[in-house]
Amino acid sequence: MQIQIEGWEDGHPFKRTLDVLDRWAVHNSLRVVVKACGTEVSIKQSPGALSEQRAGVGACLWDASFVLTAFLGAPSHSAWHWVKGSVEVVELEWGQPNSMQVIDSLRGQSPDFVIAADCLYIDEGGSTPKVDHFVDACAALCGSFTQCFVALEQRSTSVMQAFFMKTRNAGFHVERMRANAEMMSLQAEHIVVLKLTKTD
Ligand SMILES: C[S@@+](CC[C@H](N)C(=O)[O-])C[C@H]1O[C@@H](n2cnc3c(N)ncnc32)[C@H](O)[C@@H]1O
Repeated sequence: MQIQIEGWEDGHPFKRTLDVLDRWAVHNSLRVVVKACGTEVSIKQSPGALSEQRAGVGACLWDASFVLTAFLGAPSHSAWHWVKGSVEVVELEWGQPNSMQVIDSLRGQSPDFVIAADCLYIDEGGSTPKVDHFVDACAALCGSFTQCFVALEQRSTSVMQAFFMKTRNAGFHVERMRANAEMMSLQAEHIVVLKLTKTD
C-alpha cells in the first residue's frame, strides 16, 4: 500500500509519499492518493473544514481508514474478493429517526461485508457519536453470514468499554484481527481492527 499526499506548502505545491502514518501531514493535504492491490483511489479533502460544524471530522481522512485499507488489501486475507463494477451510495446517519428505514430500504440480501473506520470517538468541539446508535446500525445491517470489520482508534477507555458491552448485548461475537505486515509498517498500534459476527 502506498499513501501519497498533495497540497500547498509555503506557496508551493508539494507531493510526497508517507512511509508511516502522519495525521498532521494528512490533515494538511488537499488530496490523498492511496494505492493498494493494483487500485488507486484519489480523495479530495477540505482541511479548513475540519473545525467547521457541517463537515467537521469528516472533512479529512483519519489513520484508521489507512489501517483498515491495509487490512482488507492484504493478499492473505482470504475473505475479501476484489470485484470490478459500480457502486450505489446511500447516506445513513445512525441515530436519526429515519436510520432504520434507510437500512430496511437496503435490505434485499444481507451484505457479505460491513466496514467502518474511526466512527466512534469523543468530539469535544462538535458532536460525539453514540456507541449504541452505531452498534444498533451494525446489528440491523448484518445478517448471520455478514463479516463486519470495524477499525477503532483507541482514544478513550470509556468508549471502548461501551463498545464491547453494547456489541455483546447486541449478540455479536467480537474478534481482534492480528496485524499483517502492511498494517505493522504503518506503525499504528493504537488502532485495532475488530471483526463482528452475529452469534445467533
Ligand atoms: C473521525 S471521522 C472518520 C472518517 C473516515 N471514516 C476515516 O476513517 O477517515 C468520523 C466519521 O464518522 C461520521 N459520523 C459520526 N457520527 C455519525 C452518524 N451518527 N452517522 C453517520 N456517520 C457519522 C462523521 O461524519 C465522520 O465522517
